[in-house]
Amino acid sequence: MHLRIITSIALTCGFLPGMLTAADPWVAPPAAAAVANPTPDTSATQDQGSAVYAKNCQICHGGSGNGDGTGAAYMYPKPAKLSDEAIQSQADGALFWKIGKGRNLMPGWKANFSADDRWAVVRYIRTFAAKGPGAGAAPVASATASGATAAGTKP
Ligand code: HEC
Repeated sequence: MHLRIITSIALTCGFLPGMLTAADPWVAPPAAAAVANPTPDTSATQDQGSAVYAKNCQICHGGSGNGDGTGAAYMYPKPAKLSDEAIQSQADGALFWKIGKGRNLMPGWKANFSADDRWAVVRYIRTFAAKGPGAGAAPVASATASGATAAGTKP
């Protein structure tokens, strides 16, 4: 009797650590991260990736990669904000590997579309870097470049 109780407590505790790893940092194996993106870095590749993204990723990651797609509201962990430094600082190979493999509510896409399409979607994810929270800095920089001082642009 006691043994059964102890066993069930041990089992419960055994499951908990597995559940708590849900929001752990997700690290690709170094060998996968080291693989170079074989697709050309052109607008044609970005367009190819954009089509894949609109169909398969936008529902969770949002139109601008901000992790705010319509499917995101009740998810834990949340779909990654692809415009974030934490994602943009990763190697193409690391993102490619994660997109293929998936984790938690993030589906693995290896069986759904070609490696070429997955590399292209990585190229497209790079375009979100400019649309992230730092994107507002651009007009200030161009005002300075056109001759106005930073102080002069204040109201
Ligand atoms: C059903 C919702 C859903 C869809 C569809 C989806 N994702 Fe995700 N994605 C997630 C969630 C949730 C996470 C966070 C997973 C985690 O950290 O365990 C995530 C994480 C990621 C990450 C971040 C990995 C990291 O370093 O933390 C990338 C990159 C990514 N997704 C790309 C994509 C791409 C590209 C597609 C389309 C091919 C896609 N996702 C489709 C839900 C989704």
